Amino acid sequence: MATILDGNKIAAEIRAEVAAEVRDMAAAGIRPGLAVLLVGHNPASEIYVRGKVKSCEEVGICSEKLTPPDTISTPELLELVLELNRRDEIDGILVQLPLPPQVDSKKILMAVDPAKDVDGFHPVNVGFLSTQRPGLVPCTPAGIMEILKRSNIPVAGQEAVVVGRSDIVGKPTAMLLINANATVTVCHSKTRDLPGVCRRADILVAAIGRAGMITRDFVKPGATVIDVGMNKVTERAEFDRLFAGNAKREESFRTKGSTLVGDAHPNAAEVAGAITPVPGGVGPLTIAMLMANTVKAAKMRRGSRMPTRPAEHARSA
Ligand code: GUN
Repeated sequence: MATILDGNKIAAEIRAEVAAEVRDMAAAGIRPGLAVLLVGHNPASEIYVRGKVKSCEEVGICSEKLTPPDTISTPELLELVLELNRRDEIDGILVQLPLPPQVDSKKILMAVDPAKDVDGFHPVNVGFLSTQRPGLVPCTPAGIMEILKRSNIPVAGQEAVVVGRSDIVGKPTAMLLINANATVTVCHSKTRDLPGVCRRADILVAAIGRAGMITRDFVKPGATVIDVGMNKVTERAEFDRLFAGNAKREESFRTKGSTLVGDAHPNAAEVAGAITPVPGGVGPLTIAMLMANTVKAAKMRRGSRMPTRPAEHARSA
């Protein structure tokens, strides 16, 4: 069976490092500030934002939550973003996605000051990443690299396969792996012989959003599997395909009516050398890296006003 890569433990390490940096900044009279824009009442977004605000409190970052109604127009939301761009005490701006359909999401993300773009979604930061310049890197891909680094999994010279080509996860993860000297293949819905391509991987990143799609047949024995999926399974047949005979999951499925599963099927762990669990794998890293990005943005913006500390997660940036 595969080694389980404990995302909660790695995220806690990073949070402790970020908290130490925040304390150093406080000694210099600076408190990093993160503004989170949550439009409307998407239940999943509300849960994510609650986690982000709580994490800010834990590490000492000042957080501010703005909650405009889901009827907001593009120009109105644009004005909120521009006001946050102007405020000097705000170092990071996060616009929680998805936005309501009447809002032009691309226009809103383009309006965020790239220096405050802690999600790393602005085309300027995308360009910095692809040309290996210092900038803000999307949180989930940055978290994946931290898991690999802190678990001593070699990347340089390894075959990496990324399944999924989203702007938020697949593409930036592929870019980070290229920058770390892996040989990278990006797969998607039109890829021929997906299992065969995946079996070439020493590092297999699953970011497709399909419950349990990556079965043992996709995994080279001993490979590292990074599972980015967060899928809610509510149907009995689907549950049985994934968890038949798993008493613990059965119990929670019966009481809650659903269970959370990644893109990797549980039987992938029988073949892999190491694998991230769901929940408790990549998920916790996303928020930890948001904290790290907020401190990084504060340091980059405030330049020489800042004290320095050689942070583990900041070194490769
Ligand atoms: N919605 C789902 N994931 C994310 C993320 O990483 N950032 C933002 N802003 N919204 C999201």
